[in-house]
Amino acid sequence: MDKKRVLTGLQPTGVITLGNYIGAIKQMIECQEKYDSILFIADMHAITVPIDADTLAKNIRQLIALYIACGIDPKKNTIFLQSENEYHANISWMLECNTYYGELSRMTQFKDKSKKSANFTAGLLTYPVLMAADILTYDTDFVPVGIDQKQHVEIARDIAIRFNKKYGDTFKIPEPLIREEGVKITDLQDPTKKMSKSSENQKGVIRLLDDVDVIRKKIMSATTDSVGKINFDVDNQPGISNLINIYISLKNKTKEEALEEFSNSNYGNFKTAVADVAVNELKKIQDRFNELIDNKELDDILDAGREKTRMIAKEKYDIMKQKIGLRR
Ligand code: TYM
Repeated sequence: MDKKRVLTGLQPTGVITLGNYIGAIKQMIECQEKYDSILFIADMHAITVPIDADTLAKNIRQLIALYIACGIDPKKNTIFLQSENEYHANISWMLECNTYYGELSRMTQFKDKSKKSANFTAGLLTYPVLMAADILTYDTDFVPVGIDQKQHVEIARDIAIRFNKKYGDTFKIPEPLIREEGVKITDLQDPTKKMSKSSENQKGVIRLLDDVDVIRKKIMSATTDSVGKINFDVDNQPGISNLINIYISLKNKTKEEALEEFSNSNYGNFKTAVADVAVNELKKIQDRFNELIDNKELDDILDAGREKTRMIAKEKYDIMKQKIGLRR
């Protein structure tokens, strides 16, 4: 039987965070053992908001090195750079012409991001369609993402269903793959907000390449509460609950196991335990990253990924053109 396919992408808008690592990369590492896995760098999504060109190029290089350093096995994954596969933008256009302005303008992320600047781009609005193209091009079964991307996977499903109805069976309908533990890692300073690459307050965000002493400090100064007991209670103890999520995601433990382990701990001891786990895991990633960053092997991995995914994407592109009537 053919293996099911998983696919996901991360934007190179900054050094990726512990949230990205737990929400997407760790899931992909689990998936690579049993699925046909495709992982890409969503660089075309990164230009939907202003970004300096050299910074973007640097982030792309760092992200490919980080994928491998985190444990993504290039032998078990097809890894590519979105902008090197021109079919994504072409397919996205054909999908855009089958997507309604109304549904795009209702996307939560669009509403949030478009509020931040009066001059937001059209790309910010059509962003979910490019994401749908990324997913649908490869007949993806599962899309490992954090909860914040669930709505975008759902609109990809809607677009696929609509296209199939109009033009006949063309796309597989994908499912989001969201881990129950630690689906959303929150900001350490404001634990009601998502930990985000673009956050202004650096103290609330752990980046995979932060100095390990800084990582420890950020965790030790994370916002907590005055309850004084380790409970998992997102409404009343969001800071502590977030640290529990980080701990169990990194240690592959259950909430119950963590609550039992820390039932007699004070916040200081608990934070030290979380910091130890995070520092230990990220230090290993950073050591591998430093060995890899100048290695030509990274280019070979991206070259191979580009060739393989262009072949698959061209097939889908040709089918779509035929069905739509873009032919002589
Ligand atoms: P991006 O770059 O914002 O985030 C990458 C992945 O990390 C997850 N994530 C989190 N998970 C848990 N806690 C957090 N605080 C946290 N922050 C981010 C995200 O849910 C995501 O899985 N549009 C996508 C990139 C993309 C994509 C795709 C993903 C483009 N095309 C096709 C899947 C399939 C994005 O901006 O992710």
